[in-house]
Parts: sequence; C-alpha cells; structure tokens
Amino acid sequence: MGLTVVGTGICFPSQMTFEAADAIKMADITLFNVGNHAIATDWLRSNARAFTDLYEFYAEGKNRTESYEEMVDAILTELHAGKTVVAAFYGHPGVFVGPGFEAIKRARKEGFDARMLPGVSAVDCMFADLEFDPAPYGCRMVEATDYVLMDRDYDPRTPLIIWQAGVVGDMTFNIVSGPTSQNTDLLKTRLLRDYPEDHPIISYVAATLAGMKPQTGVATVGTLETLKLNASSTCLVPPVFDHSLDAELGVPFQTQLLQSIREAQDRSATVN
Ligand SMILES: C[S@@+](CC[C@H](N)C(=O)[O-])C[C@H]1O[C@@H](n2cnc3c(N)ncnc32)[C@H](O)[C@@H]1O
Repeated sequence: MGLTVVGTGICFPSQMTFEAADAIKMADITLFNVGNHAIATDWLRSNARAFTDLYEFYAEGKNRTESYEEMVDAILTELHAGKTVVAAFYGHPGVFVGPGFEAIKRARKEGFDARMLPGVSAVDCMFADLEFDPAPYGCRMVEATDYVLMDRDYDPRTPLIIWQAGVVGDMTFNIVSGPTSQNTDLLKTRLLRDYPEDHPIISYVAATLAGMKPQTGVATVGTLETLKLNASSTCLVPPVFDHSLDAELGVPFQTQLLQSIREAQDRSATVN
C-alpha cells in the first residue's frame, strides 16, 4: 500500500524508465495524466491493472487549479481504499506538476508511504537537441506567468529557460483556442526590460514520438509574436554578451549557442 509518482518521459515510450514501467505494471491502480498523447494513453490502459485517465478532469475554459485539486482527490481516494497506487505524469513528475507533489504531501500527512521517481523532462530534451550545456553560464528557469507578474531581478548574462511560454496569464485549459497575442505582448514587454529588441529567443518543442523531429524557431525579442508558441512550447533566451567570460572561453558563448541552434533547426522541423 502506498503511492508512487512516476514520469513517462516526453518521447513515449522510449523515455519512460524501466522503474516507472515496473511500478505501473505492479500497482493495483494507475492514475495518469499524459495529456492527449494517444500512444502513451493506450500503453497505460493496456499495462496498468486498473486505471483512471486524469486528463478527463480538464475541460475547455475550466480553471486548471480546480482540475488539479480533483486529480489529487482522485489519487487519495484510491489510497483510502487500501490500494497500491501509481500516479503517472508525462515528462518528469516533479517538474511543473503540482498535483504530484500535493498528492505525496497529503498521502504522507495521512500516514501513507509516498515517493517520487524521476523522469525525462522537456528540459533534458532541450539540452540534448539544442546542444545547450548549462555549465559555462549557468541557467535560470522561470514559469512564464510568474516571470511576467513578479517583480524579480534577472541577470541577462545567464541563459533563461521560459516554461509555459505559450500560456502566459492563462489559468484555464485552452487546447482549442490557444495563446492570445495580448499575452505574448506581456511576455515581450517583460523581456524588453532586460534584453534589446534584436536579442535572439528560441522556441522549442521536443519530439513526443519516435521518428518525430523536435520543432525549433528563432526570432528576436522584438519579433516574439512570429514564434508560433503553443501549450507545449518552452523558450530559451541566450545570454547577453559577457565580455569577461566570453574572452575567457575563447569563443563567444552566445555565438556558439546560436550556431548549434541553427544546426539543430536544419536537422529538425523549423517553425519559422
Ligand atoms: C505542466 S508543464 C509539464 C512539464 C513536464 N512535467 C516536464 O517534465 O517536461 C508544461 C510545460 O512543459 C513544457 N513542455 C511540455 N511538453 C513539451 C515538449 N514536448 N517540448 C518542450 N517543452 C514541453 C512547456 O513549457 C509546457 O508549457
């Protein structure tokens, strides 16, 4: 009896770990949210002893927080019934997945064993596909709405990864309508506080199935709206030129990063 929260990776099934697959097969029930990924959904339905598709708690225009609370309640209900429970989320289950952590917290408070297993996240795919190593300049990650709303200082000499860049300010589930241009404007205004208009920004969507290619787009902060951002987009903003570090590294990091991104674009599906 107890709860295990697992990730199924981004590219399914190749990025699902053996330990996640084993946990799913051995649990009494698996509750999962793998978005609308048909292949992952089919695999989970066939390999879990019993299942609940948590994606059904979303509805067009419904507040996502409400759906997440219902997902946590559903997970806890199965624990209360004395079952061994797995909650599976796409990517890494601890990266931008509130319900996974909340379910663990509530389960432990009620005396159940609960743990999380790591998974392959979108950012892991980005490091590989864009050949972006966070070692030389570090890396800062933000959630887009938080980045726009909160008055925090960011050093533009550190590369910036922006999660949920296509759903700025949108707390509802909108798979049909998608992002609004007004929200992209908010993100652009925030970026312009730290970057010049001609500074590059990259949009990235990792492949979710074997044989698919990642999608990358390059624009400038001033032309952000030309990137076709959607709910799966993550953005990367290269660092502004840092004279001391770039001189030390020999080749300007920004130039090198953009070069590897252009090459990645040539290999992948280019979106602009
Ligand atoms: C709720 S979070 C889930 C993240 C996921 N748990 C992970 O580990 O990658 C959703 C955000 O993850 C990012 N994301 C999801 N799928 C992606 C993909 N295929 N490629 C790039 N980023 C993705 C986007 O920033 C998206 O708005």
